[in-house]
Amino acid sequence: MFFWGTATAAYQIEGATAEDGRGPSVWDTFVREPGRVKDGHTGDVACDHYHRWREDVALMAGLGVNAYRFSIAWPRVLPQGAGEVNERGLDFYDRLVDALLEAGISPVPTLFHWDLPQALEERGGWLNRDVAALFADYAATVAARLADRVPMWITLNEPFVHMAYGYAMGLHAPGRLLLTGALPAAHHQLLAHGLAAGALRAAGAGQVALTNNCTPVWPASQDEADLRAADAYDILHNRLFNDPVLLGRYPDLSAYVPEPDFVRDGDLETIAAPLDALGVNYYNPTRIAAPADGGVLPFEDAGITGHPTTAFGWPVVPDGLRELLTALRARYGAALPPILITENGCSQEDVPAPDGTVEDEARVAFLDGHLAAMRRAMAEGVDVRGYFVWSLLDNFEWAEGYHQRFGLVHVDFATQRRTPKRSYHWYKAFLAGRNTGRNTGQNTDT
Ligand code: BGC
Repeated sequence: MFFWGTATAAYQIEGATAEDGRGPSVWDTFVREPGRVKDGHTGDVACDHYHRWREDVALMAGLGVNAYRFSIAWPRVLPQGAGEVNERGLDFYDRLVDALLEAGISPVPTLFHWDLPQALEERGGWLNRDVAALFADYAATVAARLADRVPMWITLNEPFVHMAYGYAMGLHAPGRLLLTGALPAAHHQLLAHGLAAGALRAAGAGQVALTNNCTPVWPASQDEADLRAADAYDILHNRLFNDPVLLGRYPDLSAYVPEPDFVRDGDLETIAAPLDALGVNYYNPTRIAAPADGGVLPFEDAGITGHPTTAFGWPVVPDGLRELLTALRARYGAALPPILITENGCSQEDVPAPDGTVEDEARVAFLDGHLAAMRRAMAEGVDVRGYFVWSLLDNFEWAEGYHQRFGLVHVDFATQRRTPKRSYHWYKAFLAGRNTGRNTGQNTDT
């Protein structure tokens, strides 16, 4: 079945951060540090999905998706990150999974979307190798409850972004500014993925995937220095996370670390355990130049002009998705498993009109263009098995707080009123025009 879905993440929508035994996560801590998040916004309430999940499932049923990618909050299940299990946390996801299945929607949970239990941060977070094994224990705990009903599991969301923003640049929780000293956080996340994949399978899980954020890297010019810089960036953003998983080896990291002493014998075998799918999140390409003199990193972002931009200022380049997918196929060949586009979408300044409607035509154009690009990649032989719009709802956009709206559904954060935007109606009509297999379990087309 081709998964046609939408995606969200726990901390971005759930709220109820201190309810029913949930422990604090690194994000609960980070949002309270002055200056970390725009206007001091927090995820304390977010979309109040923890209480309004029935309404949100109904919105998805109305949309006609056959799959929903959400994330499970580790600190809801294990408030201390390890040890005592909080059954009430598991109950929440248990009910959600049942409601989704009843609505004909396949649940596709992600086990880690950046909300590490604070108790584990106090033990070093992802710089501590032990966290990888604890993640596998957590995965086994969740699978023991849900594996009988979940067809597709995703271990981690975007280990690159978590390492880069959370550990290298200090822009996301846990707010560390370690630059290349963040690399062990990459390795330990990848190790966690491999160990969790094994734990999930041992617990009878169906299919297992990892979601990476991938970007086509464009050199700013054909000068040798820019080409070298682009290659270095491609290694850091893409190959550092795809090569070990798909090829069982790291790319040449010498531009960043002379000897990656955090990699131990046997780790790469664990990390390269076979995958049923690779999740790919695509937002935009990245244009890279050689660093200015004295730059600490071997590259510099040169920016992309000549394309429309989102409210975030990100360039809108639909064909970048085709470029990315065909490049993955060219690089990994038979080692590339089927691909799920686990996130694709854009932020816009969506303001409801006086009559209450939200006319987000630019988002419709964005989605239409990217779906066409995905189909071109498929026509060129890339095996894509799913597409999830980021996001179902406007939500807590990390360091931007509630300022960037990505939803197909507008959320008024003062009242929690949900209003489907034009893009929701457009996606609904798009899905109605194909056999999505919803409620039937039949095979589907793209
Ligand atoms: C993340 C989402 C985020 C989105 C837009 C992705 O990197 O997985 O959590 O909201 O991008 O920034």
